[in-house]
Amino acid sequence: MSTNIITPEQMRIVEERSAALGVSRLLLMENAGCAVAKAILDSTVNLSKGVLVVAGLGNNGGDGFVAARHLASGGVKVKVILLGKGEEIKGEEAAINWKIISNMQRSIVAAEANNRETLLRCKELFDSSSVIVDAIFGTGIKGEVREPFATAIDLINGSNAYKVSVDIPSGLDPTTGEVQSKAVKADLTITFHKAKPGLFKNKKFVGKLIIAPIGIPPEAEM
Ligand SMILES: NC(=O)c1ccc[n+]([C@@H]2O[C@H](COP(=O)([O-])OP(=O)(O)OC[C@H]3O[C@@H](n4cnc5c(N)ncnc54)[C@H](OP(=O)(O)O)[C@@H]3O)[C@@H](O)[C@H]2O)c1
Repeated sequence: MSTNIITPEQMRIVEERSAALGVSRLLLMENAGCAVAKAILDSTVNLSKGVLVVAGLGNNGGDGFVAARHLASGGVKVKVILLGKGEEIKGEEAAINWKIISNMQRSIVAAEANNRETLLRCKELFDSSSVIVDAIFGTGIKGEVREPFATAIDLINGSNAYKVSVDIPSGLDPTTGEVQSKAVKADLTITFHKAKPGLFKNKKFVGKLIIAPIGIPPEAEM
C-alpha cells in the first residue's frame, strides 16, 4: 500500500499482521508513546510547569502512559489522570504500562478519576500544567462522549496549556472527522504510522500534525 492515509480498520489489520511478524502490540505502544514524548521534548514549549497526561481506558491511554514514562526519564515533572479505575483498563498492553507508571512513585504522580466530581476536584492540575497530553480516545471512539470523558475534554479545552493529542483529538471521528458532541482542540496531534482520514476533514481540532513511524514492518502492509 503506498498511500499515506489509513483507515482505523486497515490500521487494525496492519497491527495484527505486525504482531504475527513478531512486532508485538506492546512494542508498537512503546514506539507510539516514545514518539509523543519526543515531540514534546523537541518542541519549543517551556515545560517548567510540567506535563499532565489525561488517559482513557483503551490503548490510546496506554500510549499516554508510555509517553509519561519517557517524559519523566527526560526530567519533566509528570502527572497522569486515568479516567476510570486501573482494573477497568481494557487491553493487556495498556494495563502493563499503567502498572509500570504506578510503580514510578518518585517521578510520576498518577491518580484515578472515575467520575465527574472527582475529576472537577483536579481542575487546578489542568490549569497549572505547561502541556496537557490528550490520551483519552483514539481510533476506538464510538458515539456521543460519555462522562467523565466529556468533562475531561471541557477541562482540557478550558486550560491555557499547550494541548497535544495522541493519534486523534479525542472526540473527533477518525474516519469522517465529525464531532458528535465535543472534541479536544489540539495544538499538536501526533498520529501513528499513517494519517487517519478524519484528521484532514476537521483541521481546526488537529493543530499541527506529525505522522510518527512506530516500527511496523513493510511486510505488514496491505
Ligand atoms: N492499531 C495500532 O497499530 C496501534 C498502534 C499504536 C497505538 N495504537 C493506539 O491505540 C488506539 C486505539 O486503541 P483502542 O482500540 O483501544 O481504542 P481507544 O481509542 O483507546 O478507545 C477505546 C476506549 O474508549 C471508550 N469509548 C469509546 N467511545 C466512547 C464514548 N463515546 N464515550 C466514552 N467512552 C468511549 C471505550 O469504552 P467502551 O469499549 O466501553 O465503549 C474504550 O475504553 C489508537 O488510536 C492509538 O492511539 C494503536
